[in-house]
Amino acid sequence: MKFFIDSADTAAIADLAATGMVDGVTTNPSLVAKSGRDFKELISEICTLTKGPVSAEVTALDAKAMLSEADQLLPIADNVCIKVPLTWDGLKATRALADNGHKVNVTLCFSANQALLAAKAGAAYISPFVGRLDDISADGMGLIADIRQIYDNYPDLETEILVASVRSPEHIRQSALIGADVATLPPEVLRSLIAHPLTDKGLEAFLADWQKTGQSIT
Ligand code: G3P
Repeated sequence: MKFFIDSADTAAIADLAATGMVDGVTTNPSLVAKSGRDFKELISEICTLTKGPVSAEVTALDAKAMLSEADQLLPIADNVCIKVPLTWDGLKATRALADNGHKVNVTLCFSANQALLAAKAGAAYISPFVGRLDDISADGMGLIADIRQIYDNYPDLETEILVASVRSPEHIRQSALIGADVATLPPEVLRSLIAHPLTDKGLEAFLADWQKTGQSIT
């Protein structure tokens, strides 16, 4: 299972990339706004922090304008992945970009049928937003399970399931059990995956006992 970082915070991305756990990065207009950075400069810098795909989202609403924006974003780096919204125009742009050999991440997916459409359009990734579904008392992880089953029913669909709007380690555990291909994690969620009180307690006891031996390994 691949881990992307869902962030436009370059310091946090660089810090996590050093762990070897980062397979790519996703951004969105809200994250870019929060960063206060110039969009193209930001994407360019993030593309140096990972060899994996870096999702840069278009903001136009019609397919032709989306493709013009993609023309501006794709030359930034070889690992730019164009992100488009799950609209008919977004799917038209997806087909055009995919036919030209570009990876597209189709975002704002909230239903299995939307995920089926994105796969038929040639998306490299579908981004179902599990946290936002949970927020309205819907079943975010149930959607991931449905999409997994649908895509597995049709092996010619090559779209990868990219679990987005992740809020907790439990979303990651369930995504891995279901067999999602990728999850995009806010930095704090990735950091929290390692936490277990028994690990801390056990390490503390081992080190205390080691001290008693009076030995040093080096
Ligand atoms: O990048 C898309 C998605 O991960 C947004 O998450 O927390 O704003 O619902 P969130």
